[in-house]
Amino acid sequence: VSLIEQAAKRLEELRRAGADSSSGPTAPVDTPDLEHLPTPEAAVRGITAGRPSVFVSPAPGEGAGALPGVQAGGAAQPKLEIDLGMLKNRCFVTPDAPRSLLADEFRVVKRPVMRKATGPGRVRNGNLVMVTSALSGEGKTFTSINLAMSLAMEIEKSVVLVDGDVAHPDLPNLLGVRKQPGLLDLLTNPRLGFADVLVPTNVDKLAILPAGTPEMRATELLASTQMERMLSDFSTRYPDVVFVFDSPPLLPTTEARELASHMGQIVLVVAADSTHQNAVKLALETIARCEVVHMLLNKADKTEVGSYYGNYGYDRPRE
Ligand SMILES: Nc1ncnc2c1ncn2[C@@H]1O[C@H](COP(=O)(O)OP(=O)(O)O)[C@@H](O)[C@H]1O
Ligand SMILES: [Mg+2]
Repeated sequence: VSLIEQAAKRLEELRRAGADSSSGPTAPVDTPDLEHLPTPEAAVRGITAGRPSVFVSPAPGEGAGALPGVQAGGAAQPKLEIDLGMLKNRCFVTPDAPRSLLADEFRVVKRPVMRKATGPGRVRNGNLVMVTSALSGEGKTFTSINLAMSLAMEIEKSVVLVDGDVAHPDLPNLLGVRKQPGLLDLLTNPRLGFADVLVPTNVDKLAILPAGTPEMRATELLASTQMERMLSDFSTRYPDVVFVFDSPPLLPTTEARELASHMGQIVLVVAADSTHQNAVKLALETIARCEVVHMLLNKADKTEVGSYYGNYGYDRPRE
């Protein structure tokens, strides 16, 4: 049995464990770390909807990694007022509930991502973090917003949430991003710079890079060397900024795979009760070249999966 199959089998076992009990809102698996084989680790946790809390986040702007223009209030784009009440009602992590169970779970998800994004454990392009999954509806957008929010709330870094799902952008609906220039425009319009399209938000240290103007050549643009150069430039010019990419699913189209090839880290979302193990296996194969892949089990039952927090073997063939 190949190592990928073992991992998929383990996920299937977890899925069954979740399905046997009443289904809860959600649960993530945290991150096999594929960089230092053969001793990767994964933590399995349940997450659930937010509860209010009393945690006080760092003072606004404190130690924030620099984002061009945004922190200084000189951003080219007007500040986006994210409807945090609506997000909270829809079970998202929000700054006024930093100690909710969901926020706690995203802390667990976030830690290994941070280790690879910054500091001594940083991998190449480690601050470029893509959230993806095999198919649609598995929780990529949910996870990328929560991860970005969670990072912005608690680290002394700035976070740019990038709408990399350029064909079906979902951040506009949830965050209220207008139709405005973004990622694709940076690739098609040489006069535009990063600071021109970055949208500051009412969440301290969180900015949004919209998908931008719809483009027939979106896939080609995402696959272009120009894109590779631009992302590598983001990564090196803004080492104190973590870029979280919401993305399309890996299996139906090639866009996500193209995007994945430029990322330092990938968070692969697996929906506990619905992602078939073959889909997980195929998805893993499409991103086999990424050095760091974290797996996150979403929508699992928290009583079954949440009680399990430990290590299980996960591996994949070396190149
Ligand atoms: N853990 C979760 N708890 C509650 N709702 C979730 C969870 N994960 C996903 N959802 C909801 O499920 C739907 C599909 O998720 P979404 O993130 O849009 O999937 P994708 O981006 O992979 O297509 C959305 O309505 C989202 O809010
Ligand atoms: Mg989505």
